[in-house]
This record gives sequence, C-alpha cells and structure tokens, in this order.
Amino acid sequence: MIKPVLRMGDPRLWLPSRPVTSFATPELHALVADMEETMRHLDGAGLAAPQIGVDLRVVIFGVDHNPRYPDAESVPWTVLINPQLTPLSSKKVGGWEGCLSIPGLRGWVPRWCDLRYTGLDAFGRPIDRTVSGFHARVVQHECDHLDGILYPMRIEEFTRFGFVDTLFTKEANDVVD
Ligand code: NI
Repeated sequence: MIKPVLRMGDPRLWLPSRPVTSFATPELHALVADMEETMRHLDGAGLAAPQIGVDLRVVIFGVDHNPRYPDAESVPWTVLINPQLTPLSSKKVGGWEGCLSIPGLRGWVPRWCDLRYTGLDAFGRPIDRTVSGFHARVVQHECDHLDGILYPMRIEEFTRFGFVDTLFTKEANDVVD
C-alpha cells in the first residue's frame, strides 16, 4: 500500500529507530512491501521506515534508471535491516542529494567514499558489502534516517542547498561553481 511520506518538520523524523527483533514475519514483509510501493510511486532511490512513520531500523534502496537521478550509477535492489556502517578510509566526497521527506530541494552533501555495510534482509539472512560512489552515498543517506538525521544536517556549504528548479539553471550553476 502506498503510504504518505512524512515531511521535514514532523518530529517523528528526528527520533532514533528501534532494531528489528523478529524476521520473516507477515508484519515485516508487509512493511517492506509498503515501503517499496511508496518508494517506486515517488521514483525514490531509497526509503527508510521512519519516513512512513514506522520507528524500525529498516531501509530499502535501489537504482536502476531513475528520472530523479538521471546520471546515477545503478545500485542493486536491497532491503537492509539493523544496518552497521563502517567507513574504510577517512576520505569523503561531495554529491547532490534529495530526499522524499524534503521535496523540491537538493543539497551538496559530503559522505564517506568507501564503506562496508552489514545487516540482515527481511528473512534474517546476512548482508555484507563493501561499496563506494553513489551506492555508498545512498546507504549513508538512508541509514541516517534511522538515527533521526536528515541530509541538510550534513551540509557544509549552504550556497549548494536550494530548490531544484533554481539550483540547476545555467545561471545558478555559474554562480555556484
Ligand atoms: Ni531521505
């Protein structure tokens, strides 16, 4: 079922979420199905459970070809539960991010370049991946939601935060770059 996505300002988005303790349950599968349907309906690259008002440590993500991210590398479709993120170097890289909870805006966000992440899928099977680039960015963005962090809280250059239709005009790029 497509669920309403909470928007920035809703206090539920600032709360840390709870670990999942039961796997392969009808309730967990229903949550993941609702998240997937909601994300695909909105052409998102990912979604975290708190964005639909569920305070559990569940994120989904995946990018095939996405009109909201036309230049993005593809990212495998993933259901990631109780994630643990470990940066593999101190190197960070900036990139544009949006969020379904902050419609119409984009910000330039520094993220760890090289990342290992572990967790479980909805059946309780382990996931252990070493990633970089856009895949690493998406994971960090989604997992931040589980700790009540939205991407504007990571922005360091506020001249690179604004409305999509204003930021990405030619004149705006001339000023920003
Ligand atoms: Ni988001």
